[in-house]
Amino acid sequence: MEIIIASLSLATLACIVILIGTRGKPVRFFTATRDVLETLKLNKGPLFSTFLIVVLVLFFLFYFYTPPAAQIGPAQPIAFSHRLHAGVKNIQCQFCHPYAGQSIHPGLPPVEKCLYCHNYIIAGHPEIQKEHDYYNTNTPTPWRKVYYLPEHVLFNHERHIRKDIACQACHGPVETMDRLQGERFKMGFCVECHQQNNANLGCWIACHS
Ligand code: HEC
Ligand code: HEC
Ligand code: HEC
Ligand code: HEC
Repeated sequence: MEIIIASLSLATLACIVILIGTRGKPVRFFTATRDVLETLKLNKGPLFSTFLIVVLVLFFLFYFYTPPAAQIGPAQPIAFSHRLHAGVKNIQCQFCHPYAGQSIHPGLPPVEKCLYCHNYIIAGHPEIQKEHDYYNTNTPTPWRKVYYLPEHVLFNHERHIRKDIACQACHGPVETMDRLQGERFKMGFCVECHQQNNANLGCWIACHS
């Protein structure tokens, strides 16, 4: 029904435009159209090459200048992949983030934990060599943070994990990402889920310091 009404309105609009455009002599529209088509036909060679060039240029731009990975988060000091470790190799999240259920800070794995496997697995890989450099110089790996909350928000993993909320409910499909995309959480994100789950909405007491 909507489609019929829409087409009728469009047709009416087109008629009005033609009437105005041809100053009340609609036949002119058809002769004009015929002339244009004639001209197009006469120039089809050059027109075709122009068309081809435009398509090629667009293709070139698309291929070489798509913004490099707008969907990917910041580069990390070691090219660590969640897709490989948590996805393909199926290592549990809590193996590397053991404190998610118990404390405010889930914790990032110290380099010892990486070496626990990588002293044996692909030990000669250049990225693993970086791990050794951090380990030998006693430097914590300078991982870059990717998930952000505004500073005045109190967030506690513990309460959420105890309710069996999956990590993915907030962090997305981490196990499919090579590089974490991250997110700047907004208040609506917290409130929406709290509404659905009858969780505390007294936010000024619960979530804001
Ligand atoms: C439980 C074992 C385990 C732990 C812990 C582990 N990894 Fe791995 N990692 C693997 C396996 C298995 C592979 C795949 C090796 C292969 O390609 O044969 C791998 C591959 C890699 C690669 C190579 C990826 C590529 O592109 O080839 C890097 C880099 C890496 N891990 C970094 C890390 C870092 C950094 C940590 C610590 C935060 C870590 N790993 C912790 C098992 C582990
Ligand atoms: C083999 C170890 C390992 C496993 C398994 C692992 N992670 Fe991680 N995780 C890391 C490392 C190393 C970082 C820091 C580098 C990065 O951000 O990629 C990290 C970072 C993160 C961050 C971003 C923290 C920030 O900086 O804001 C989140 C969220 C996260 N992991 C969630 C998960 C979830 C969910 C799983 C399970 C699906 C998981 N991780 C499995 C090692 C691991
Ligand atoms: C209810 C939403 C929610 C759930 C569920 C959740 N997280 Fe988070 N996570 C967050 C928020 C929000 C932050 C940012 C906290 C901040 O910046 O202080 C965060 C930060 C992190 C960080 C970075 C911590 C740091 O010290 O920088 C890691 C790692 C992480 N989460 C891992 C996990 C893992 C693993 C799970 C599942 C076991 C999980 N999260 C489940 C909301 C959640
Ligand atoms: C996927 C759903 C979900 C999301 C997203 C979520 N929460 Fe929650 N949150 C819950 C549930 C369910 C509870 C109730 C836990 C309980 O009863 O122990 C809870 C409890 C809490 C509590 C404890 C409240 C109290 O009663 O003292 C705080 C604080 C909190 N959330 C803050 C946040 C903040 C801040 C965010 C956004 C960054 C957030 N939550 C996002 C589901 C969620």
